[in-house]
Amino acid sequence: MSVTRDSFHSRIGFVLAAAGSAIGLGNVWGFPTQAANNGGGAFVFVYLIVTVLLAFPALFAEIYLGNQAQKNPVGALEDACQDVSKRLGRYAGLFGLLGAILMLSFYSIVAGWMLSHALSPLMALLGFDSAATWLADSSVARNLAFTPIFIVLSALIINRGVHSGIERWSSRLMPVLFVLLIGLIIYILQQPGASEGVAMYLTPDFSQISDPKLIISAMGQAFFSLSIGVGGMMVYGSYMKKDADIGKLVISIGALDTLIAFLAGLLIIPTLFVAQHMGQQVFIDGQLIGGPQLIFSTLPALFDSMGDIGIYVSLVFFTLMSMAALTSTISSTEVPVAYLVEDKKYSRFKSTFIVSLVVLAASMTLVFNFDSLFGAVINWVNSFQLPIMGLFYFIVVGWIYKRGNQLADKALLAQKPWLKLWANYLRFVCPLLLTTVFINVISNM
Ligand code: PFF
Repeated sequence: MSVTRDSFHSRIGFVLAAAGSAIGLGNVWGFPTQAANNGGGAFVFVYLIVTVLLAFPALFAEIYLGNQAQKNPVGALEDACQDVSKRLGRYAGLFGLLGAILMLSFYSIVAGWMLSHALSPLMALLGFDSAATWLADSSVARNLAFTPIFIVLSALIINRGVHSGIERWSSRLMPVLFVLLIGLIIYILQQPGASEGVAMYLTPDFSQISDPKLIISAMGQAFFSLSIGVGGMMVYGSYMKKDADIGKLVISIGALDTLIAFLAGLLIIPTLFVAQHMGQQVFIDGQLIGGPQLIFSTLPALFDSMGDIGIYVSLVFFTLMSMAALTSTISSTEVPVAYLVEDKKYSRFKSTFIVSLVVLAASMTLVFNFDSLFGAVINWVNSFQLPIMGLFYFIVVGWIYKRGNQLADKALLAQKPWLKLWANYLRFVCPLLLTTVFINVISNM
C-alpha cells in the first residue's frame, strides 16, 4: 500500500517555511556583527555578491534535488547518484544528516538562552524578581532546563507533520517576527546616538573589500543564513509538488532572508551606538563587540537603562530571537525525522522522539564540555560541513545526476538557451568559485 507523503499545501506556505528556516539567529545576530567588524557597508556589498553568485545557486541545487526525488535527503541523494554510485549518495546524505544534528546541538543551546531571556522580563513584570534574575544569568542549570525545553518545542511542531506543524507554525510566526522587527527598528532609530550607527552600517569601507577574510566570512555567513548544506532545504523542497518553479522560489526565499538580515543590521548596529551614548563600552580594540557579550550583556544593560519601556523592548527582542530560532530548528529536525519515517518506516512520533533524544544527548555533551566543544562544533559546521555539502550539490547536479535531471537533458537544453546557460553555470563556474574560496579558508586557518 502506498502512503501519500505529507506536503506543503501552498506556495506561500512553502516560501514562509523555507524563509523561516533561513531566517534565524544567523540573520539577527551573525549578520550584523559580521558587518560591523568587516567594514560595514563593504561587508554588506560583498555579502550580496556572494549570495547571488554562489549561495542562491547552492540553494537552488539543494531544493531542486529534493523536489525531483520527492524523498528525504538520504534517499534524494541516493537517487541522484544512482548512475555513478548509490552508496556515495547515501553516505553524503548521512553526512548531511550528521550536520543537521551537530547544527541542532549548538543551536538549541543558544535558542534556549533566547527563550530564557524572553521569559526574564515577563517574570519581572509579574513581580518574580529572583526568577527574572536567574533567567537572565547564564548557568549550567539554566542550560539544563532551557535546551531541553527548546528541543521539546521543536519536537511538538515536527510531530504534527509538514502541513499542520511546519507550514502552519511558520505561517504564524514569520509575519509576527517581521512586525516585531520593524517595531523595534522604529523605536531604536529614534534614540540618541542611533544615527551614528546607521552611518557606520551603511557607509562602505572599501579598503577592506579585497581582504580574502572578508570574502570568506561573507560566504560562510551566506551559506549558514540560507540553511544550505544540512538537507533542511532539500527536505522542504521534497514536500513541494514535483517540477515546481524552483528558480522563482529561491529568489523569494533568498530575498526575504537577505531583507531580514539587512533590517537586523539596521536594528543591532544603531542599538550598539545608543548603548555607547548611554555610557557603555561597545568597542574593544577598535572592533565592535559581537558574540554572546553583545546579545546577553550589552543589549540587556541597554534595555535596563531605558526605564520602564526597557522591559517591554527586552521582551519583544528576545521573543523575536526565540521565534527566529524555532522556525530554523524545525527544518534541521525534519531532516533526520523524514529519514527515519521513510527509510526505517518508523512512525512520525517515534522518529521525532528518537531524533529529539539524540539532539538532547549531543547538546548536553556540549553543555558539559562547553569550553572545548561549543566553539569547535560551530566552526566545523560553518567552515567545513556547509561548504563541502554545497560543493557536493553542485557536483551532483552538474556532473553525476543524469536520469530525470532536466539540467542534463540535451534535447531540453537545446530548446532553452537560458536553461543551458544556467546548467553550465552550475556545472563549471559554481564548483570552481566555491573550491577557490574553500582553499582560501584552509590556507587562512
Ligand atoms: N539559517 C539559520 C540562521 O540563519 O540562523 C541557521 C540554519 C538553520 C542552518 C537550519 C541550517 C539549517 F538547516
